[in-house]
Amino acid sequence: MTYEFEFTSQQATQEFAEKLAQLLMPGDFLALEGDLGAGKTTFTQGLARGLGVKRVVNSPTFTIIKEYAGRLPLYHMDVYRVADQVDDLGLDEYFYGEGVCVVEWASLIPNHVPEDRMTIHLLQQGENVRLCRLEVVGKRSEQVGKEIDQHVRAGN
Ligand SMILES: Nc1ncnc2c1ncn2[C@@H]1O[C@H](COP(=O)(O)OP(=O)(O)OP(=O)(O)O)[C@@H](O)[C@H]1O
Ligand SMILES: [Mg+2]
Repeated sequence: MTYEFEFTSQQATQEFAEKLAQLLMPGDFLALEGDLGAGKTTFTQGLARGLGVKRVVNSPTFTIIKEYAGRLPLYHMDVYRVADQVDDLGLDEYFYGEGVCVVEWASLIPNHVPEDRMTIHLLQQGENVRLCRLEVVGKRSEQVGKEIDQHVRAGN
């Protein structure tokens, strides 16, 4: 199932992510896709806020995995530079752990991502406008997709 949302400001993107965060449970997996500057890190900052993370969230490009404490642990990863070494990174420990995983460029490691997952594709449509395509696969993620869509349609 795929849902589409449009965000006309950075704040709108982050408010959506914050709302989504409130629906998440341990073990949930989010793949983030989109070109440079599409808003993947911006989105993750909103998600972190929604999980009650107090620290500043920035791009994990050079660290690969960053872990933040919140209502649930947040594992923020960027596999862009390490897709070919993914077998050695021990990612499964995070993917099937007690936190929420957000993986930028997860499409580069298709054989390693959990079956049940949400994929968020951000597309730049204007300076401040982003189309957000949310694809949900599996029972758990389908449930979250349905809930966030209802929240947004209801305007809360
Ligand atoms: N509606 C919007 N949603 C998200 N970001 C927006 C929006 N409008 C403008 N922006 C701006 O676009 C930029 C997005 O940058 P960000 O670092 O989040 O992208 P990224 O996808 O993580 O890029 P990279 O692949 O380089 O890591 C920010 O400067 C942000 O302020
Ligand atoms: Mg980024």
